Amino acid sequence: MKTEILRLDNFGRGITFYKDKICFIENTYPNEIIEFEITKETSKYYEGKAIKITKPSNNRVESKCKYSNICGGCSFQEYKYDEENKFKEDKIKSLVKTQLKQKNIVKKIEYDKDYFYRNKITLHGSNNNLGLYKNKTNEIINIDECNITNKRINAIIEKLKKYNDIKEVLVRTSNDEKQVIIDIKGKEQDYKELEEISDVLIINNKLITKNKSIITNIGSKKYYLSSNSFFQVNEFLTNKLFNKVLEYVKEIKPSNVLDLYCGTGSFGIYISEYANKIIGVDYNKSNIEDAIKNKELNNIKNIDFIADKVENIINKFDNYDLIIVDPPRSGLDKKTIEYMIKINPKYIIYISCDPNTLVRDLKLLNKEYIINEITPYNLFPKTYHVESVSVLERKSVEK
Ligand SMILES: C[S@@+](CC[C@H](N)C(=O)[O-])C[C@H]1O[C@@H](n2cnc3c(N)ncnc32)[C@H](O)[C@@H]1O
Repeated sequence: MKTEILRLDNFGRGITFYKDKICFIENTYPNEIIEFEITKETSKYYEGKAIKITKPSNNRVESKCKYSNICGGCSFQEYKYDEENKFKEDKIKSLVKTQLKQKNIVKKIEYDKDYFYRNKITLHGSNNNLGLYKNKTNEIINIDECNITNKRINAIIEKLKKYNDIKEVLVRTSNDEKQVIIDIKGKEQDYKELEEISDVLIINNKLITKNKSIITNIGSKKYYLSSNSFFQVNEFLTNKLFNKVLEYVKEIKPSNVLDLYCGTGSFGIYISEYANKIIGVDYNKSNIEDAIKNKELNNIKNIDFIADKVENIINKFDNYDLIIVDPPRSGLDKKTIEYMIKINPKYIIYISCDPNTLVRDLKLLNKEYIINEITPYNLFPKTYHVESVSVLERKSVEK
């Protein structure tokens, strides 16, 4: 069957119509004529697979990834980087226009390197396979490199391939790629070679090396990082995003700041010179342990951390003039939004990794807050994901 791809959906899949329903086809781009087959039918839509690209898009490029059509982790290995950036900026603009009925508040997307930018990978294994899960399956795609992960990690993947029976391995580096964590679950065997090249080696939850953390940095701030802690994965663009938040904070000149979903304290520590008092909240104990060490590492006195769920504790806060939120993809829950409005800060900075949940939450916050601007960041090149920073200002200045 032949068809034309009309546009991309939110997940970067080509959209066409088949019979009377919408049909999504991965690795196809607008204006392409393709031959395809149906792989799934539901009551509302079809999914299909391109068999032949009869007329390729002018924006199609040759993939630099050996696994791009089988792995499924990336949507844009075969799409021009400029077009990928445009897709992500337009996705946010369109949601803002349709859901929030606002125009001209979304800025130009910020981007940096499109390959070898990730400081972290998790590989899965069985017998002598080691690789990535094929999209939406438990099938392992054996890989010996990943071109969105940094070159230091790729060199380690090469060494890991010498071992059999690794069930799962996490490899992460500091942003300068000088320090390495390797955390393996699998067969007990002689991992001497890995011990020699890693700063932190963990085998089946047992720490083999002296240190359990490495030190990474964002700009001039240093951060301890352990295997289980959250840390931004893009080692090039993260710094720009943090500088944007810092720029807003310098303008806002807040006294008291709440840094919700704070991870290892990254934003609070980054802006600490420009506020009187900061409280960071995250429910992950490993994050908060690192955050407390990070406070000392950067010699900061005006920040404290709480290990708890934001929704369990938000009703205890009062008198903050800036709230920074950086929730997971699921966004903010209604109770948290309700209490944020009750706390009544003059400004909110919302860092989001999912534009859909972002606009859902902004819609509720918009009753009391003006959305001044939203800046998209392509923190995850080649994938359909996009990050953004929004600044909200209270409508009525009086409390
Ligand atoms: C996107 S990360 C942001 C971390 C940090 N702001 C940074 O940039 O490094 C989201 C964080 O929210 C935390 N988290 C998720 N759900 C939470 C909840 N209900 N309460 C508190 N923290 C939560 C996770 O542990 C994770 O560290």
